[in-house]
Amino acid sequence: MFSAIDMAPRDPILGITEAFNADQNPAKINLGVGVYYDDNGKVPLLSCVQKAEEILIAAPAPRTYLPIEGLAAYDKAVQELVFGADSAVIQEKRAVTVQAIGGTGALKIGADFLKRFAPDAEVYISDPSWENHRALFESAGFKVNNYAYFDAATHGVNFAGMLADLKAMPRGSIVLLHACCHNPTGADLTSAQWTEVIAAVIAGGLVPFLDMAYQGFGAGIAEDGAVVRRFAEAGGPLLVSNSFSKSFSLYGERVGALSVVAASGEEAARLMSQLKRVVRTNYSNPPVHGGKVVATVLTTPELRQLWEDELAGMRVRIKEMREAFVTKLQAKGHDFAFVRDQIGMFSYSGLSKAQVEELRAQSIYAVDTGRICVAALNSRNIDIVIDAIAKVL
Ligand code: LMR
Repeated sequence: MFSAIDMAPRDPILGITEAFNADQNPAKINLGVGVYYDDNGKVPLLSCVQKAEEILIAAPAPRTYLPIEGLAAYDKAVQELVFGADSAVIQEKRAVTVQAIGGTGALKIGADFLKRFAPDAEVYISDPSWENHRALFESAGFKVNNYAYFDAATHGVNFAGMLADLKAMPRGSIVLLHACCHNPTGADLTSAQWTEVIAAVIAGGLVPFLDMAYQGFGAGIAEDGAVVRRFAEAGGPLLVSNSFSKSFSLYGERVGALSVVAASGEEAARLMSQLKRVVRTNYSNPPVHGGKVVATVLTTPELRQLWEDELAGMRVRIKEMREAFVTKLQAKGHDFAFVRDQIGMFSYSGLSKAQVEELRAQSIYAVDTGRICVAALNSRNIDIVIDAIAKVL
């Protein structure tokens, strides 16, 4: 039976890492995948993580199964981070949180859960969105549509188009929104625009699914999470996936969570029972280590402060790289000022697929759409990248 199976296409993002890994050129540069590298080009091991691991190693614990929904201390800490400890949805026990295998795992739990209870709904994702959003919701059985989002002419958001599309969606549609640091464009909504989006989602009876994979990489932890809190306050159903891959530099530990907001505590209990069913039939229960590390950091005041400082350091360095990118290209006669205004790890650079391929021939890897990971630039590689880009322009 296997002889008829075709070769699947390469993953648009992780496939680039595969090509990068296979490249023998020692000077190769990977601006593809969304990973933060420090100025030495290394993925950092955060001090707060190391200190949390020291605490955990000092009190070795057996590796028994976690509950299906994950570590209780982790789920609680995540909820407080995502909604705010004083949030009504927490006080009224209307929010449920399950530990997930990264942000992707959280999206998949949410997608499977929604497919079970809203089988005829269609999903709407931004145009463009993270490549895996479409694939993931389609693989859960949904029809996936786009809503207008990016305006290539301004390198910003086509807000009129987005709002018109939101207002035209059938009631009950699932709308995937990026809470902050839009992936891949780096173009976020303003606070005033979010007010209009929230009103349109509520008025239209849509089901918002907020994906927050980059909290802390925009303006700050609280600032980036503000829209989640505003949705929670506005009422209505709400799903939120979040990830600590980037904000804790814990990519390989796969630590994320899915939170769902219900209308009452009683409804929340029913939702939790169903979320557990989804988890149990997918992978039974989550791994221990990453969740313990994150819970330890978030609930130990000194480590929490250290994390916030280290995250701020990453955020500031990315902004410095944006500035350097713009200034250096300006010096070569190219206007990329919009990169300064973009937020988070990514820039939708405007480079064409052909230009990206030319860069790849010089061992500089970016996503075919022209998305570059600004967080992979550093003081050693930026001039090489700038020279290469200037050459292909
Ligand atoms: C990205 O967009 O590059 C990251 O979210 C990593 C991934 O899994 O695609």
